[in-house]
Amino acid sequence: METGTAPQPDSTEPDRTKPDVPLGDYLTVRVSRGKGPENRYEEFQVPRRENQTVLDIVTWIQRNADPALSYRFACRVGVCGSCAMTVNGKPRWTCRTHVSKVIGKERSLTIEPLRNLPRIKDLAADMSAFFEKWQQAGGRFAGKTDRTGPLARIDPESPGRKAVDAGIECINCAVCYSACDVVTWDEDYLGPAALNRAWTLVNDERHAEKRETMKKVSAAGGCHSCHSHGSCVEHCPIGLNPTAGIAGLKRRSVLQTFRLSGEK
Ligand code: SF4
Ligand code: SF4
Ligand code: FES
Repeated sequence: METGTAPQPDSTEPDRTKPDVPLGDYLTVRVSRGKGPENRYEEFQVPRRENQTVLDIVTWIQRNADPALSYRFACRVGVCGSCAMTVNGKPRWTCRTHVSKVIGKERSLTIEPLRNLPRIKDLAADMSAFFEKWQQAGGRFAGKTDRTGPLARIDPESPGRKAVDAGIECINCAVCYSACDVVTWDEDYLGPAALNRAWTLVNDERHAEKRETMKKVSAAGGCHSCHSHGSCVEHCPIGLNPTAGIAGLKRRSVLQTFRLSGEK
């Protein structure tokens, strides 16, 4: 995975922050810069190209204007989930976001790191808390057998398999995490992606630790903290619906509580 930080520019090099195409055929791009909590905006004039993505813009700046600009990407095709940033105020996967869809009438872009995560440098957010919450939500698969055991046979039409299918393609981009106001208010909230992962596990017939996973997502900061306002659904770039999974966890958690109190 590349982080995009390169050696400092040679001060004898010509200023390349100006476009290399006729004026008018360029975009004004404001980029948030700084380490940790520092923040300042720098403006660049970037040549406009056909079918240009936001990641193309950031890459042009890093290659032609400021090699010290830090950002993160890997696949460029919407698979790895590493390129998410805030673009004109909204979290987006930048490698699949076409500039023409987001520049608006002002023909300008403001690019910032993902909200709700600390900044490492410039556009690279520190994803540690996001992944730690997957662990806290019991998001690690625990098999009922080892690799020498028979393959599990799962009915593709079973409700559990369908529930898993609906959430399994998550690419861990943290766009939903950045879009969620409850994450902003409550640093302990596990967030939509971790809870969506937990939902796929508690519906997976092969998962041996469903009870443990349910216990973790039912605790403080878990599924019951979700306000169901659906910002995660609105922003998820691959169309997943974490709100639906979280609603499923809430139902299951309440049913389990009734069942346990009935057993006393
Ligand atoms: S529905 Fe829940 S998880 Fe999704 S954005 Fe709203 S509060 Fe966050
Ligand atoms: S649920 Fe969607 S937005 Fe959230 S991390 Fe997964 S792919 Fe990204
Ligand atoms: S670079 Fe991999 S999803 Fe954007």
